[in-house]
Amino acid sequence: MGSLKALCNVSLLQLFIVLCLVFQCFATRRHADLRTTLVVDASDATGRPIPETLFGIFFEEINHAGAGGLWAELVSNRGFEAGGPNTPSNIDPWTIIGNESSIIVETDRTSCFDRNKVALRLEVLCDSEGDNICPNEGVGVYNPGFWGMNIEQGKKYKVIFYVRSTESLNLTVSLIGTNGVGNLASSTITGTAADFSSWTKVETLLVAKATDHNSRLQLTTNTKGVIWLDQVSAMPQDTYKGHGFRTELFEMLSALKPKFIRFPGGCFVEGEWLRNAFRWKATVGPWEERPGHFGDVWMYWTDDGLGYFEFLQLAEDLGAIPIWVFNNGVSHNDEVDTSAVLPLVQEALDGIEFARGDPTSKWGSLRAAMGHPEPFDLRYVAVGNEDCGKPKYRGNYLKFYHAIRTAYPDIQIISNCDGSSRALDHPADMYDYHVYTNANDMFSRANTFDRTSRNGPKAFVSEYAVTGKDAGTGSLLAALAEAGFLIGLEKNSDVIEMVSYAPLFVNANDRRWIPDAIVFDSYQMYGTPSYWVQKLFVESSGATFLPSTLNTTSSNQLIASAISWKDSTENKNYIRIKVVNFGRGTETIDISIDGFPVGQQFGCTKTVLTSDNVMDENSFAQPTKVVPQTSSAVNVESKIQAILSPFSVTSFDFLIL
Ligand SMILES: *[C@@H]1O[C@H](CO)[C@@H](O)[C@H](O)[C@H]1NC(C)=O
Ligand SMILES: *[C@@H]1O[C@H](CO)[C@@H](O)[C@H](O)[C@H]1NC(C)=O
Ligand SMILES: *[C@@H]1O[C@H](CO)[C@@H](O)[C@H](O)[C@H]1NC(C)=O
Repeated sequence: MGSLKALCNVSLLQLFIVLCLVFQCFATRRHADLRTTLVVDASDATGRPIPETLFGIFFEEINHAGAGGLWAELVSNRGFEAGGPNTPSNIDPWTIIGNESSIIVETDRTSCFDRNKVALRLEVLCDSEGDNICPNEGVGVYNPGFWGMNIEQGKKYKVIFYVRSTESLNLTVSLIGTNGVGNLASSTITGTAADFSSWTKVETLLVAKATDHNSRLQLTTNTKGVIWLDQVSAMPQDTYKGHGFRTELFEMLSALKPKFIRFPGGCFVEGEWLRNAFRWKATVGPWEERPGHFGDVWMYWTDDGLGYFEFLQLAEDLGAIPIWVFNNGVSHNDEVDTSAVLPLVQEALDGIEFARGDPTSKWGSLRAAMGHPEPFDLRYVAVGNEDCGKPKYRGNYLKFYHAIRTAYPDIQIISNCDGSSRALDHPADMYDYHVYTNANDMFSRANTFDRTSRNGPKAFVSEYAVTGKDAGTGSLLAALAEAGFLIGLEKNSDVIEMVSYAPLFVNANDRRWIPDAIVFDSYQMYGTPSYWVQKLFVESSGATFLPSTLNTTSSNQLIASAISWKDSTENKNYIRIKVVNFGRGTETIDISIDGFPVGQQFGCTKTVLTSDNVMDENSFAQPTKVVPQTSSAVNVESKIQAILSPFSVTSFDFLIL
């Protein structure tokens, strides 16, 4: 900005003279020398196939990504178990309606569900008649969901709960607007004491009369007696395929065309302590029977509605291969000795059987009972997360590796230890590579894999992101550095099998980790620039990598790659060239594509991700401030000159005509 201001202060004539002098100084030959050129070799002989699986996603239960996020359940702590199995129950965020003269609310362990014994006991002291008349609105409890429930006019919500009562029951279930104002929908459940003397499942469908993004679910009565509640659920009926995924969030994932999905963590798999790690068996079967657990790394409770089955279903719905990461007996603070790890190995084998075993097998039959007799397409498992340096990891890993290799020879096994050198004492099919760093370092890591051994197991770049000051809560700068890094990974995709950004999601009300690819709250969402960068790479999986030569003496840092890919639905062939200008100057680039006959015509679409300020971000107020902008030209030839904006990534799609 400073130099532009200075320029404005000189008169136009002065400026003209200055500019003339500048051009005089640089003879035409010199000028040509300074040109930046990119030559792409598109002749058939030189291309190299990029792995089909290259770009995917990594879903971790962090930042309320699942509970209060992609998983559409509106009720938080639906079983009143949030305190954990051995501690006095914490009913948070449930809130009492009424006061001690009208209602006493506590928990006890009288639930009909063996794995989650805590139930909510409401002792109603007031009545619709007599000395102690209940307040007009009744007494009971409400659940605000995850920072407010998004209730939309005309939409249907299925409320299910379990109830028991000492007296005749007259319980009103309602969806109430912001701050308890406005009845959006309600239904009253009535019956005699005999009807509800034992635990009874109640289902009611509520249709919203109005929209409120900050609603609550309320259960109230004005009848004296004792009522127990347990496993209270409110599900929108318009989830993706009815599978429980919040539709718009699902669609943002789907737009990334992920070829795989790694889940459910991350550190979430490890736990600060093993007792709080994700254990798949506690997350399958009927949702009412799941105990839920406290994720002590990201510090929140999850009812595990999004359990192992639902993750596999999510993968299938996305057309992505599931990559299941399981705990290998290592948490952040405690470890299982290798001599005692066999029960965990069996748990992993059982988990594989659950995913893909015959419907008549022990665990395959549970999957079938859950509505999926066909096996899920589980082909990859990862043993632990970021545990390579832990004392018990290598020993434990080998127990898992050999047991899985024997039982399921086709399953690819991913290690946390860099296996690129193919160590004999540490066999693996792939190894994790994670990087969180500043923007300059990320950009320079485009070359990291240039020198990796070409013979060992392939790398799975399963977590990467620019973090810290450069990233803010999701800056253009971070995204451009990542774009440069990804171009380097494309170039090295002979030794890199898979790549995924992390974290995928953040609920804006619980930013445990920033930045993230997708930001949401109860009803709104947007992609950060890092999300949009990933979209520029969606056609790379399974495409052909084309060698290209970037020749530049520019002070801008530049990196480029080229692929050819086929849009099989439209039967069209494209060459996509991506160039990152990681510098503050505008860059002119001459692009030529070799390997076509003279006169070959192309349609050309240019997609640019940039912004006025490199620290610009998107937000709920401006969700599309930094998003790709597309422009098209018709009938260009194989040589074009293009302008690259300062701090930008540009994708040129040449449609071969
Ligand atoms: C790169 O550009 C320089 C200066 O124009 C030129 O001398 C050199 O031959 C070019 N290199 C390639 C590989 O094209
Ligand atoms: C309880 O609430 C009622 C109104 O519903 C009020 O009249 C009463 O004073 C309150 N009692 C206490 C102890 O706060
Ligand atoms: C339930 O309670 C409401 C509000 O007090 C009352 O209008 C209704 O008649 C009651 N229903 C039954 C079946 O008792």
